[in-house]
Amino acid sequence: MSTHPGFGSREFATSFNSVAAEYATARPDYPATLYDAIEELADRPLAGARVLDVGAGTGLGTRPMLRRGATVTAAEPGPGMAGQLRARLPAVRLVRADGNALPFTAGAFDLVTYAQAFHWTDPTRAVPEARRVLRPGGALALWWNVPDRTVPWQRDQERRLRARLTGYHRGDISAEAPGILADLDPALTTHYREVGWSRDLPLAAHLANLATHSFFAVLGPEASRAVIDDERALLEREFPEGEVTESYTVRLTVARVRG
Ligand SMILES: C[S@@+](CC[C@H](N)C(=O)[O-])C[C@H]1O[C@@H](n2cnc3c(N)ncnc32)[C@H](O)[C@@H]1O
Repeated sequence: MSTHPGFGSREFATSFNSVAAEYATARPDYPATLYDAIEELADRPLAGARVLDVGAGTGLGTRPMLRRGATVTAAEPGPGMAGQLRARLPAVRLVRADGNALPFTAGAFDLVTYAQAFHWTDPTRAVPEARRVLRPGGALALWWNVPDRTVPWQRDQERRLRARLTGYHRGDISAEAPGILADLDPALTTHYREVGWSRDLPLAAHLANLATHSFFAVLGPEASRAVIDDERALLEREFPEGEVTESYTVRLTVARVRG
């Protein structure tokens, strides 16, 4: 595990397996504009690309790349998350592996992606591994869906949860990622983009999404429920019609290997 501040502990990294089914249904996926930006910054279409999606989880980031015509291999260390991916995307090649030691041959991929997963790796191992399995001219794309904290209700929720939950947004390296990659490998050409988007959903679905985050999952069901119940009570007062809009910024880093 890296000593870089914020990188996740094993307890947090494996916490998703206990909430994998809820994760698959409640977590947001990613907007089409994100995949447009990946194609632009990687300087190639996803159609026909050989993609390795590391930390693929239940496949939320994988599916849109398949739809664009990529051939995707999913690498996922967690048994619960891998089980969900296998059930949802049975045609995808799934390998139980983690980003620190990729069991693939050199130059096998055009694109290596980490959707909300790179912070769980040790980047001093994961970056050289990504470089090794990428062909010259290939690209490494890392992204995170970050709640927009300029929206008052999301900012207030952030403040409440930060005060109450150990490890809340621990490992948020979404803004530092370009610098981390540049420090570790000066041969990478790094680009950064922010993509804003939002979704309207029932309050219950927002709370289900919240409960799938590692800082809730590590609490266990009972302690997690107590915090979620308090959030429900507050948000029902703020949104009596029972609908909320979650607003996000996807922070995307694409690093190209000089080819
Ligand atoms: C927040 S989930 C993201 C899942 C999916 N990519 C998505 O966008 O929904 C983080 C994933 O990283 C996986 N993970 C944890 N440690 C990892 C590691 N060292 N290398 C690769 N993936 C890891 C977890 O099992 C989990 O599935």
